[in-house]
Amino acid sequence: MFKIKIVLLVIILYSCNTSNQNRDESLLEIETKLKQSVEIFNKERTQTLVSPRSIENNSILMVPSKDWTSGFFPGELWIMYELTGDNYWKEIAIKYTLPLEQEKLNGKTHDMGFKMYCSYGRAWQNTNDPKYREILIQSAKTLAKRFQPNIGCIRSWDHNTDKWDYPVIIDNMMNLELLFWAANETGNKMYSDIAISHAKTTLKNHFRDDYSSYHVIDYNPETGEVQNKHTHQGYSHNSAWSRGQAWGLYGYTLVYRETKDPIFLQQAINIASYILNHPNLPKNLIPYWDFNAPNIPNEPYDVSAATVIGSALYELSEYTDEKEYLVIANKIFETLKSPEFLADPATNNGFLLKHSTGSMPHSSEIDVPLIYADYYFLEMMLRKTNLMKN
Ligand code: GLY
Repeated sequence: MFKIKIVLLVIILYSCNTSNQNRDESLLEIETKLKQSVEIFNKERTQTLVSPRSIENNSILMVPSKDWTSGFFPGELWIMYELTGDNYWKEIAIKYTLPLEQEKLNGKTHDMGFKMYCSYGRAWQNTNDPKYREILIQSAKTLAKRFQPNIGCIRSWDHNTDKWDYPVIIDNMMNLELLFWAANETGNKMYSDIAISHAKTTLKNHFRDDYSSYHVIDYNPETGEVQNKHTHQGYSHNSAWSRGQAWGLYGYTLVYRETKDPIFLQQAINIASYILNHPNLPKNLIPYWDFNAPNIPNEPYDVSAATVIGSALYELSEYTDEKEYLVIANKIFETLKSPEFLADPATNNGFLLKHSTGSMPHSSEIDVPLIYADYYFLEMMLRKTNLMKN
Protein backbone atom coordinates (compact mmCIF):
# COMPACT_ATOMS: atom_id res chain seq x y z
CA MET A 1 0.00 0.00 0.00
CA PHE A 2 2.77 2.37 1.03
CA LYS A 3 4.64 1.57 -2.21
CA ILE A 4 1.57 2.34 -4.31
CA LYS A 5 1.20 5.72 -2.57
CA ILE A 6 4.83 6.55 -3.32
CA VAL A 7 4.43 5.60 -7.00
CA LEU A 8 1.29 7.74 -7.26
CA LEU A 9 3.06 10.69 -5.65
CA VAL A 10 5.96 10.37 -8.09
CA ILE A 11 3.55 10.29 -11.05
CA ILE A 12 1.71 13.40 -9.79
CA LEU A 13 4.93 15.33 -9.17
CA TYR A 14 6.27 14.32 -12.57
CA SER A 15 3.13 15.41 -14.41
CA CYS A 16 3.05 18.79 -12.58
CA ASN A 17 6.65 19.32 -13.51
CA THR A 18 6.21 18.46 -17.19
CA SER A 19 3.09 20.65 -17.48
CA ASN A 20 5.11 23.56 -16.09
CA GLN A 21 7.94 22.76 -18.48
CA ASN A 22 5.43 22.78 -21.32
CA ARG A 23 4.33 26.24 -20.30
CA ASP A 24 6.51 28.71 -22.06
CA GLU A 25 9.05 30.37 -19.79
CA SER A 26 7.85 33.86 -20.74
CA LEU A 27 4.32 32.86 -19.88
CA LEU A 28 5.35 31.66 -16.43
CA GLU A 29 7.26 34.87 -15.81
CA ILE A 30 4.41 37.14 -16.95
CA GLU A 31 1.81 35.05 -15.12
CA THR A 32 3.72 35.45 -11.87
CA LYS A 33 3.98 39.18 -12.45
CA LEU A 34 0.30 39.54 -13.33
CA LYS A 35 -0.62 37.83 -10.04
CA GLN A 36 1.24 40.63 -8.29
CA SER A 37 -0.70 43.17 -10.37
CA VAL A 38 -3.97 41.60 -9.29
CA GLU A 39 -3.04 41.75 -5.61
CA ILE A 40 -2.05 45.40 -5.91
CA PHE A 41 -5.05 46.53 -7.97
CA ASN A 42 -7.53 44.60 -5.83
CA LYS A 43 -6.59 46.89 -2.94
CA GLU A 44 -7.25 50.02 -5.02
CA ARG A 45 -10.48 49.02 -6.65
CA THR A 46 -13.73 50.55 -5.41
CA GLN A 47 -17.33 50.34 -6.53
CA THR A 48 -16.89 53.29 -8.89
CA LEU A 49 -13.16 53.22 -9.65
CA VAL A 50 -13.11 49.87 -11.32
CA SER A 51 -9.93 49.59 -13.39
CA PRO A 52 -6.28 50.70 -13.24
CA ARG A 53 -5.08 53.13 -15.91
CA SER A 54 -1.68 54.60 -14.99
CA ILE A 55 0.13 56.38 -12.21
CA GLU A 56 -0.42 59.96 -11.16
CA ASN A 57 1.55 61.76 -8.44
CA ASN A 58 3.23 58.48 -7.60
CA SER A 59 0.03 56.62 -6.92
CA ILE A 60 -2.16 54.31 -8.95
CA LEU A 61 -4.75 56.05 -11.08
CA MET A 62 -7.97 54.03 -11.00
CA VAL A 63 -10.77 54.95 -13.41
CA PRO A 64 -14.54 54.56 -13.68
CA SER A 65 -16.09 52.33 -16.34
CA LYS A 66 -16.69 55.29 -18.66
CA ASP A 67 -12.94 55.93 -19.07
CA TRP A 68 -11.67 54.73 -22.46
CA THR A 69 -9.11 52.49 -20.73
CA SER A 70 -11.49 50.58 -18.43
CA GLY A 71 -11.56 47.42 -20.59
CA PHE A 72 -7.84 46.76 -20.74
CA PHE A 73 -7.21 45.20 -17.34
CA PRO A 74 -10.18 42.82 -17.59
CA GLY A 75 -8.89 42.02 -21.08
CA GLU A 76 -5.46 41.13 -19.70
CA LEU A 77 -7.07 38.73 -17.24
CA TRP A 78 -9.06 37.03 -20.01
CA ILE A 79 -5.91 36.70 -22.12
CA MET A 80 -4.15 35.03 -19.19
CA TYR A 81 -7.13 32.69 -18.81
CA GLU A 82 -6.93 31.85 -22.50
CA LEU A 83 -3.19 31.17 -22.25
CA THR A 84 -3.33 29.03 -19.10
CA GLY A 85 -6.85 27.61 -18.85
CA ASP A 86 -6.58 28.28 -15.13
CA ASN A 87 -9.91 29.12 -13.48
CA TYR A 88 -8.14 31.48 -11.09
CA TRP A 89 -7.85 33.90 -14.04
CA LYS A 90 -11.40 33.39 -15.20
CA GLU A 91 -12.83 34.26 -11.82
CA ILE A 92 -10.86 37.48 -11.49
CA ALA A 93 -11.55 38.37 -15.12
CA ILE A 94 -15.28 38.15 -14.46
CA LYS A 95 -14.95 40.39 -11.38
CA TYR A 96 -13.21 43.08 -13.40
CA THR A 97 -15.48 42.73 -16.44
CA LEU A 98 -18.94 42.94 -14.87
CA PRO A 99 -18.70 46.56 -13.60
CA LEU A 100 -18.40 47.74 -17.21
CA GLU A 101 -21.86 46.59 -18.28
CA GLN A 102 -23.46 50.04 -18.07
CA GLU A 103 -21.15 51.26 -20.84
CA LYS A 104 -23.25 49.36 -23.38
CA LEU A 105 -25.64 52.34 -23.31
CA ASN A 106 -23.04 55.08 -23.17
CA GLY A 107 -23.38 56.79 -26.55
CA LYS A 108 -21.25 59.80 -25.63
CA THR A 109 -18.00 58.41 -27.00
CA HIS A 110 -16.55 56.25 -29.77
CA ASP A 111 -14.42 54.26 -27.33
CA MET A 112 -16.92 51.41 -27.11
CA GLY A 113 -14.62 48.91 -28.81
CA PHE A 114 -11.72 49.60 -26.48
CA LYS A 115 -13.94 49.30 -23.43
CA MET A 116 -16.30 46.49 -24.37
CA TYR A 117 -14.53 44.37 -26.97
CA CYS A 118 -11.34 44.03 -24.93
CA SER A 119 -13.36 42.98 -21.87
CA TYR A 120 -16.74 41.49 -22.82
CA GLY A 121 -15.45 40.45 -26.26
CA ARG A 122 -12.82 38.28 -24.65
CA ALA A 123 -15.30 37.11 -22.01
CA TRP A 124 -17.59 35.90 -24.82
CA GLN A 125 -14.77 34.24 -26.79
CA ASN A 126 -13.60 32.39 -23.69
CA THR A 127 -16.94 31.28 -22.27
CA ASN A 128 -19.65 31.49 -24.97
CA ASP A 129 -21.95 32.75 -22.24
CA PRO A 130 -24.97 34.35 -24.02
CA LYS A 131 -25.25 37.15 -21.46
CA TYR A 132 -21.92 38.54 -22.69
CA ARG A 133 -23.15 38.27 -26.28
CA GLU A 134 -26.23 40.39 -25.53
CA ILE A 135 -24.15 43.07 -23.83
CA LEU A 136 -21.80 43.21 -26.82
CA ILE A 137 -24.63 43.48 -29.33
CA GLN A 138 -26.15 46.35 -27.37
CA SER A 139 -22.71 48.00 -27.28
CA ALA A 140 -22.40 47.75 -31.07
CA LYS A 141 -25.91 49.18 -31.46
CA THR A 142 -25.00 52.16 -29.29
CA LEU A 143 -21.73 52.74 -31.17
CA ALA A 144 -23.44 52.53 -34.58
CA LYS A 145 -25.60 55.54 -33.65
CA ARG A 146 -22.50 57.72 -33.85
CA PHE A 147 -22.19 57.06 -37.59
CA GLN A 148 -23.23 59.86 -39.94
CA PRO A 149 -23.78 58.61 -43.54
CA ASN A 150 -22.98 61.87 -45.36
CA ILE A 151 -19.55 61.84 -43.72
CA GLY A 152 -19.06 58.09 -43.85
CA CYS A 153 -17.43 57.93 -40.42
CA ILE A 154 -18.26 57.39 -36.79
CA ARG A 155 -17.86 60.61 -34.80
CA SER A 156 -15.05 60.25 -32.26
CA TRP A 157 -15.42 62.99 -29.69
CA ASP A 158 -18.10 65.36 -28.40
CA HIS A 159 -15.65 67.53 -26.44
CA ASN A 160 -13.77 70.68 -27.57
CA THR A 161 -16.49 71.94 -29.89
CA ASP A 162 -14.47 75.16 -30.07
CA LYS A 163 -11.76 73.27 -31.99
CA TRP A 164 -13.74 71.05 -34.37
CA ASP A 165 -17.25 70.24 -35.57
CA TYR A 166 -17.11 66.54 -36.40
CA PRO A 167 -13.79 65.09 -35.19
CA VAL A 168 -12.67 61.65 -36.32
CA ILE A 169 -9.42 60.35 -34.85
CA ILE A 170 -7.21 57.60 -36.23
CA ASP A 171 -7.71 55.68 -32.93
CA ASN A 172 -11.30 55.10 -34.00
CA MET A 173 -10.14 52.36 -36.38
CA MET A 174 -9.78 50.18 -33.30
CA ASN A 175 -13.49 50.31 -32.52
CA LEU A 176 -14.41 48.69 -35.84
CA GLU A 177 -13.63 45.21 -34.52
CA LEU A 178 -16.75 45.31 -32.35
CA LEU A 179 -18.88 46.22 -35.37
CA PHE A 180 -17.49 43.41 -37.52
CA TRP A 181 -18.12 41.01 -34.65
CA ALA A 182 -21.73 42.21 -34.35
CA ALA A 183 -22.28 41.80 -38.11
CA ASN A 184 -20.95 38.24 -38.04
CA GLU A 185 -22.89 37.37 -34.92
CA THR A 186 -26.28 38.86 -35.86
CA GLY A 187 -26.12 38.66 -39.66
CA ASN A 188 -26.99 42.38 -39.74
CA LYS A 189 -24.85 43.93 -42.50
CA MET A 190 -25.53 47.42 -41.17
CA TYR A 191 -22.65 46.96 -38.70
CA SER A 192 -20.06 45.86 -41.27
CA ASP A 193 -21.26 48.50 -43.78
CA ILE A 194 -20.54 51.18 -41.17
CA ALA A 195 -17.14 49.70 -40.36
CA ILE A 196 -16.14 49.44 -44.04
CA SER A 197 -17.35 52.96 -44.79
CA HIS A 198 -15.38 54.28 -41.81
CA ALA A 199 -12.24 52.42 -42.92
CA LYS A 200 -12.52 53.65 -46.54
CA THR A 201 -13.20 57.27 -45.58
CA THR A 202 -10.32 57.23 -43.10
CA LEU A 203 -8.04 55.72 -45.74
CA LYS A 204 -8.95 58.58 -48.07
CA ASN A 205 -8.63 61.49 -45.63
CA HIS A 206 -6.37 60.58 -42.73
CA PHE A 207 -3.21 59.65 -44.63
CA ARG A 208 -0.38 61.62 -46.15
CA ASP A 209 1.49 60.52 -49.26
CA ASP A 210 4.09 58.72 -47.15
CA TYR A 211 1.33 56.73 -45.33
CA SER A 212 1.81 58.50 -42.03
CA SER A 213 -1.49 59.68 -40.58
CA TYR A 214 -2.96 62.81 -39.11
CA HIS A 215 -4.49 62.41 -35.70
CA VAL A 216 -7.78 64.34 -35.97
CA ILE A 217 -9.73 64.96 -39.17
CA ASP A 218 -12.48 67.49 -38.72
CA TYR A 219 -15.42 67.13 -41.11
CA ASN A 220 -18.08 69.65 -42.00
CA PRO A 221 -21.21 67.97 -40.61
CA GLU A 222 -23.43 69.43 -43.36
CA THR A 223 -21.32 68.89 -46.47
CA GLY A 224 -19.15 65.98 -45.30
CA GLU A 225 -16.05 67.86 -46.55
CA VAL A 226 -12.76 67.78 -44.63
CA GLN A 227 -12.29 71.18 -43.01
CA ASN A 228 -9.19 70.62 -40.84
CA LYS A 229 -6.37 68.14 -40.36
CA HIS A 230 -5.14 68.46 -36.79
CA THR A 231 -3.41 66.75 -33.94
CA HIS A 232 -4.46 66.48 -30.32
CA GLN A 233 -1.77 64.28 -28.77
CA GLY A 234 1.01 64.62 -31.34
CA TYR A 235 3.88 67.10 -31.63
CA SER A 236 2.26 69.15 -34.41
CA HIS A 237 -0.56 68.92 -36.94
CA ASN A 238 1.91 67.64 -39.53
CA SER A 239 3.84 65.25 -37.33
CA ALA A 240 3.39 61.50 -36.96
CA TRP A 241 2.16 60.80 -33.44
CA SER A 242 3.52 57.32 -32.70
CA ARG A 243 0.48 55.73 -31.12
CA GLY A 244 -1.66 57.07 -33.93
CA GLN A 245 0.53 55.27 -36.47
CA ALA A 246 0.17 52.14 -34.34
CA TRP A 247 -3.63 52.39 -34.21
CA GLY A 248 -3.70 52.77 -37.99
CA LEU A 249 -1.51 49.70 -38.57
CA TYR A 250 -3.54 47.56 -36.19
CA GLY A 251 -6.83 48.93 -37.54
CA TYR A 252 -6.18 48.20 -41.23
CA THR A 253 -4.80 44.76 -40.40
CA LEU A 254 -8.03 43.87 -38.62
CA VAL A 255 -10.20 45.36 -41.35
CA TYR A 256 -8.36 43.17 -43.87
CA ARG A 257 -8.95 40.12 -41.64
CA GLU A 258 -12.68 40.85 -41.64
CA THR A 259 -13.15 41.86 -45.28
CA LYS A 260 -10.30 40.19 -47.22
CA ASP A 261 -10.31 43.33 -49.38
CA PRO A 262 -6.71 43.77 -50.66
CA ILE A 263 -6.86 47.59 -50.43
CA PHE A 264 -6.88 47.27 -46.64
CA LEU A 265 -3.99 44.79 -46.63
CA GLN A 266 -1.99 47.13 -48.84
CA GLN A 267 -2.75 50.02 -46.47
CA ALA A 268 -1.51 48.01 -43.48
CA ILE A 269 1.67 47.07 -45.40
CA ASN A 270 2.24 50.71 -46.35
CA ILE A 271 1.81 51.88 -42.75
CA ALA A 272 4.17 49.14 -41.53
CA SER A 273 6.72 50.25 -44.08
CA TYR A 274 6.43 53.89 -42.93
CA ILE A 275 6.99 52.88 -39.29
CA LEU A 276 9.72 50.30 -39.78
CA ASN A 277 11.78 52.36 -42.21
CA HIS A 278 11.52 55.62 -40.28
CA PRO A 279 14.97 57.06 -39.54
CA ASN A 280 13.75 58.12 -36.08
CA LEU A 281 12.70 54.61 -35.08
CA PRO A 282 15.37 53.56 -32.59
CA LYS A 283 17.35 50.35 -33.14
CA ASN A 284 15.52 48.74 -30.22
CA LEU A 285 12.24 49.29 -32.19
CA ILE A 286 10.53 51.18 -29.36
CA PRO A 287 9.23 54.46 -30.84
CA TYR A 288 9.61 57.81 -29.19
CA TRP A 289 6.23 59.39 -28.47
CA ASP A 290 6.15 61.13 -31.88
CA PHE A 291 8.24 60.23 -34.93
CA ASN A 292 8.89 63.96 -35.41
CA ALA A 293 9.46 64.91 -31.79
CA PRO A 294 12.01 67.73 -31.86
CA ASN A 295 14.71 66.39 -29.49
CA ILE A 296 15.08 62.80 -30.59
CA PRO A 297 16.92 60.83 -29.17
CA ASN A 298 16.29 62.80 -25.97
CA GLU A 299 12.54 62.25 -25.94
CA PRO A 300 10.37 59.88 -23.90
CA TYR A 301 9.47 56.54 -25.41
CA ASP A 302 5.96 55.39 -25.99
CA VAL A 303 6.02 51.70 -25.14
CA SER A 304 2.27 51.51 -25.71
CA ALA A 305 2.88 52.31 -29.40
CA ALA A 306 5.48 49.52 -29.52
CA THR A 307 3.06 46.95 -28.11
CA VAL A 308 0.24 47.91 -30.51
CA ILE A 309 2.68 47.76 -33.45
CA GLY A 310 4.08 44.44 -32.24
CA SER A 311 0.67 42.87 -31.86
CA ALA A 312 -0.43 44.14 -35.28
CA LEU A 313 2.74 42.78 -36.91
CA TYR A 314 2.10 39.31 -35.50
CA GLU A 315 -1.28 39.36 -37.19
CA LEU A 316 -0.02 40.95 -40.41
CA SER A 317 2.66 38.26 -40.68
CA GLU A 318 -0.14 35.75 -41.25
CA TYR A 319 -1.45 37.58 -44.30
CA THR A 320 1.78 38.02 -46.24
CA ASP A 321 4.83 35.95 -47.16
CA GLU A 322 6.96 38.69 -45.64
CA LYS A 323 8.94 36.92 -42.89
CA GLU A 324 10.22 40.28 -41.67
CA TYR A 325 7.00 41.10 -39.78
CA LEU A 326 7.31 38.04 -37.57
CA VAL A 327 11.01 38.61 -36.98
CA ILE A 328 10.38 42.23 -36.00
CA ALA A 329 7.42 41.41 -33.74
CA ASN A 330 9.58 38.83 -31.95
CA LYS A 331 12.34 41.38 -31.60
CA ILE A 332 9.96 43.94 -30.08
CA PHE A 333 8.69 41.28 -27.68
CA GLU A 334 12.22 40.39 -26.57
CA THR A 335 13.13 44.06 -26.09
CA LEU A 336 10.02 44.63 -23.98
CA LYS A 337 10.90 41.64 -21.83
CA SER A 338 14.25 43.16 -20.90
CA PRO A 339 14.64 44.87 -17.50
CA GLU A 340 14.77 48.26 -19.18
CA PHE A 341 11.06 47.94 -19.99
CA LEU A 342 9.54 45.03 -18.06
CA ALA A 343 9.16 45.74 -14.36
CA ASP A 344 8.36 43.88 -11.23
CA PRO A 345 4.78 45.11 -10.62
CA ALA A 346 5.53 45.32 -6.90
CA THR A 347 7.93 48.17 -7.68
CA ASN A 348 5.96 49.60 -10.62
CA ASN A 349 2.62 50.41 -8.92
CA GLY A 350 1.15 47.14 -10.19
CA PHE A 351 1.95 47.58 -13.89
CA LEU A 352 4.09 45.35 -16.10
CA LEU A 353 5.76 47.79 -18.45
CA LYS A 354 7.49 51.13 -17.97
CA HIS A 355 8.08 54.08 -20.33
CA SER A 356 4.82 54.89 -22.09
CA THR A 357 3.52 58.34 -22.93
CA GLY A 358 -0.16 59.28 -22.83
CA SER A 359 -0.26 62.87 -24.04
CA MET A 360 2.85 64.99 -24.24
CA PRO A 361 1.11 68.22 -25.36
CA HIS A 362 -1.14 68.02 -22.30
CA SER A 363 1.84 67.23 -20.03
CA SER A 364 -0.09 64.15 -19.08
CA GLU A 365 1.18 60.61 -18.40
CA ILE A 366 4.74 61.12 -19.62
CA ASP A 367 7.17 58.21 -19.30
CA VAL A 368 4.85 56.18 -17.08
CA PRO A 369 3.21 52.77 -17.14
CA LEU A 370 -0.07 52.69 -19.09
CA ILE A 371 -2.55 49.85 -18.85
CA TYR A 372 -3.01 49.59 -22.60
CA ALA A 373 0.72 48.99 -23.06
CA ASP A 374 0.36 46.01 -20.73
CA TYR A 375 -2.78 44.79 -22.53
CA TYR A 376 -1.24 44.79 -26.02
CA PHE A 377 1.95 43.24 -24.61
CA LEU A 378 -0.13 40.33 -23.33
CA GLU A 379 -1.92 40.18 -26.67
CA MET A 380 1.51 39.95 -28.32
CA MET A 381 2.26 36.96 -26.10
CA LEU A 382 -1.07 35.34 -27.00
CA ARG A 383 -0.57 35.90 -30.73
CA LYS A 384 3.06 34.69 -30.59
CA THR A 385 1.96 31.55 -28.74
CA ASN A 386 -0.82 30.85 -31.22
CA LEU A 387 1.50 31.37 -34.19
CA MET A 388 3.99 28.91 -32.72
CA LYS A 389 1.24 26.29 -32.40
CA ASN A 390 0.33 26.50 -36.11
N1 GLY B 1 -7.21 56.49 -27.74
C1 GLY B 1 -6.56 57.43 -26.93
C2 GLY B 1 -5.09 57.35 -26.98
O1 GLY B 1 -4.52 56.59 -27.73
O2 GLY B 1 -4.47 58.08 -26.22
